[in-house]
Amino acid sequence: MTLIRLTGVTKTFPPSGKGGSPVVAVDDVSLDIAAGEVCGIIGYSGAGKSTVLRLVNALETPTSGTVEIDGRDVTNLRERELRELRGDIGMIFQQFNLFDSRTVAGNVAYPLEVARRPRAEIASRVDELLRFVGLSDKARNYPEQLSGGQKQRVGIARALATSPRILLADEATSALDPDTTQEVLGLLKRINDELGVTILVITHEMDVIRTLADRVIVMEHGRVIESGDVFDVLSAPQHAATRRFVASIIEDVPVGEQLRTLHDRHPGRIVTFTIREGDVTQADVFAALSSHGVRFELVHGGINDIGGRVFGHLTLALTGEADAVEQAIRAASTFAPLIEEDVRG
Ligand SMILES: Nc1ncnc2c1ncn2[C@@H]1O[C@H](COP(=O)(O)OP(=O)(O)O)[C@@H](O)[C@H]1O
Ligand SMILES: [Mg+2]
Repeated sequence: MTLIRLTGVTKTFPPSGKGGSPVVAVDDVSLDIAAGEVCGIIGYSGAGKSTVLRLVNALETPTSGTVEIDGRDVTNLRERELRELRGDIGMIFQQFNLFDSRTVAGNVAYPLEVARRPRAEIASRVDELLRFVGLSDKARNYPEQLSGGQKQRVGIARALATSPRILLADEATSALDPDTTQEVLGLLKRINDELGVTILVITHEMDVIRTLADRVIVMEHGRVIESGDVFDVLSAPQHAATRRFVASIIEDVPVGEQLRTLHDRHPGRIVTFTIREGDVTQADVFAALSSHGVRFELVHGGINDIGGRVFGHLTLALTGEADAVEQAIRAASTFAPLIEEDVRG
């Protein structure tokens, strides 16, 4: 069942100064997100990701196209309907956006106060939420007394206060260290698994997509350029911009200075092969090189596990007779896609 549907959505912002041109933040985007799904949106800064989230919770109105939540068009809602919609969509942010002057409990209570729930109900709901995020003992503390991870857990409890069916996360773990990120990702996973909440996450972090998302949408210049199963998109990106972006978050392919250093340290040719479960293994690559009498040394690489399926990159220094090396590279690259050695720049 589709819970979130954008159809031909464009969002144009007026020019910021005199003589400037309008900014097309989102350009003819259509997407469907099923109930219960965790969907990641990735792409470079300025791609239009945050604007898509703001269109979903009706903080922005599309210039054209429609945004539907559970089959209902959310543009032109009346005040009361808009309040209902907001209660059905929680949001968390990179900088947490907590109220500094309210206690932890006060922050979590806030959306319930806005919704004018009875006091006793608010108190028991806040208790329940703080227990869920593991912060019962911090109820009377203020945000400034908390660590980043604890602050985000408060943000999550607050976002869940009105029992929304949808949770939007805009770079929610980008300000956290790796351990804390794992802890918050674990919590988001429970929210999806145990509460059945549909989650839309914007991120530039590999870990977030890998551990959380079922599906990923790639945006560039306001458009969706690619989308699909996480393993497929990350291990075999179709679009050049996706390849660049994925390489930048995976960080297992040496580029620039790192590649120059490898060339300085190792004799011979330096090449990177892509390996991908179901298509090509490390053993296949090694066998092809050996059969051409080429010696190789692994100088860089990384293996990524996505839901138990692996893909990655092997950067090898190859030595031997020049013709043999050339032939070996050609043979291996027929099944293990080759990333060209490039030391320019
Ligand atoms: N309120 C706004 N007014 C004018 N321009 C905006 C506004 N919000 C976003 N933009 C512009 O729209 C484009 C997409 O922004 P955004 O959705 O924040 O991208 P992302 O989240 O992918 O970095 C950017 O060029 C940004 O400057
Ligand atoms: Mg953004």
